[in-house]
Amino acid sequence: MHTVTLPRLGTFEVWRDAARALAAAGTPPEQCSWQMEGAAASLFDTPDAPLPPAKRSVNVPKAFPQLAKQLCASRAAGAFDLAYRLLVRLSDAPRLLSNRADPDVAQAEALAKNIRRDMHKMKAFVRFRDVTPEGANRRQFLSWFEPDHRIEQLIGGFFMRRFGDMDWVIVTPEITTRFEGGKLSFEAVESARLDLSDETEELWKTYYANIFNPARLKIKAMQSEMPKKYWKNLPEATLIPGLIAQAEAKVAAMQEAAPTLPPIRAGRVLDRLHTESGDIDADLQGCARCPLAGPATQAVPGEGPMDARLMIVGEQPGDQEDLAGRPFVGPAGQLFDQIAGEAGLDRHAAYVTNAVKHFKYTVRGKRRIHQNPNADEVSHCRWWLDREIAQVQPVMLVALGATAALALTGNGKNITARRGRVEKGLAGLPVFITVHPSAVLRQPDETSRKALRGALHADLAEVSKMMAQVAVASG
Ligand code: URA
Repeated sequence: MHTVTLPRLGTFEVWRDAARALAAAGTPPEQCSWQMEGAAASLFDTPDAPLPPAKRSVNVPKAFPQLAKQLCASRAAGAFDLAYRLLVRLSDAPRLLSNRADPDVAQAEALAKNIRRDMHKMKAFVRFRDVTPEGANRRQFLSWFEPDHRIEQLIGGFFMRRFGDMDWVIVTPEITTRFEGGKLSFEAVESARLDLSDETEELWKTYYANIFNPARLKIKAMQSEMPKKYWKNLPEATLIPGLIAQAEAKVAAMQEAAPTLPPIRAGRVLDRLHTESGDIDADLQGCARCPLAGPATQAVPGEGPMDARLMIVGEQPGDQEDLAGRPFVGPAGQLFDQIAGEAGLDRHAAYVTNAVKHFKYTVRGKRRIHQNPNADEVSHCRWWLDREIAQVQPVMLVALGATAALALTGNGKNITARRGRVEKGLAGLPVFITVHPSAVLRQPDETSRKALRGALHADLAEVSKMMAQVAVASG
């Protein structure tokens, strides 16, 4: 058995170097044991031996390092083993990650999703307290947070970009992250909970009391969006019991005042309530911005790395996506994966989503037949797409077909003539226009199917080339 002990800081980097060496030496997964520094060693473990010499080279698809990084941040039992097992299996099956039916791939995606969720929560619920000493020329802030997983190093860059104009420290039970004088650093140090309070606290309370809408009070949903464990670190949480208690009386008052409330303002209240959790996937499930939510099984959020440089936008979930709750898993998605793979576009390195998040259909017999979303539905759903774009911050978007082109550029016409070109999108980002894979599936004969498949292939190869140039330009 080869034991590898991983440090709390640089966990992924140490895992990566050891995993690469072990895989290159042909060490099977069942002969490796991975443990965190400080974890109780098993009786049968041997101390870390020198890594074996390489017998072959190890190549992985572009999406794997990101996935492995997320797995290495997971506290789930067996996450390191799973990452190593995937690494070993990838040498014989380079397309393995596209096979979502594979139990290892499915488990890895589920764990990675938990990591992304934990990161969302940290982005939404970190509250900084002003601790600027008198006379300091840069503001200084301090925060305490308890993540579920070891995400501090994954998320440090986000806080650096977001709060680059001040010095700050985020303390978690195991890691202290500092941004001081423009430099980000991490320190592995155990800390007890910090109890912080200052005037910023009042600001948060005022903000929360204003966005709280008693008419939409759903205590269970509220607690799942803002789980109780985060409350103790949120200044506004002290208001929640009181606001809940007053909700009934406030709703009655609101109902009386309802005729004087302009609908546009009501819409804004709703928007602000949705902004509250910062977790798009979860917020989306409560969406009632258009009637499509009613008949659909669930809203289907986008998925992929939250720092992806490329965002691929389809039309709307289909029958299978509606049931699975994940985009592009049905026939059109599988065809897209296949063509993207052949065109050298790493689809798992991209964030994949839809212009409309609910499945629109009519029922015929036992079948649910897809219907195109109309311009109103696309326009209502842009609110979610804009949030995804703001959160992921891609450098380029790909519009698959007319609905995506409409959502991203304001124009859904003449896709055949526009395909293969980059246009300026509504969000100010470049939008590459191409056809939708389902259009390939709908072609009436083999010749036209081949032609359209070829067009989509050529477009995705072009996108892949552009993204490679972006990667080189940005180092
Ligand atoms: N078609 C799309 O546009 N999106 C999906 O998620 C599935 C099919």
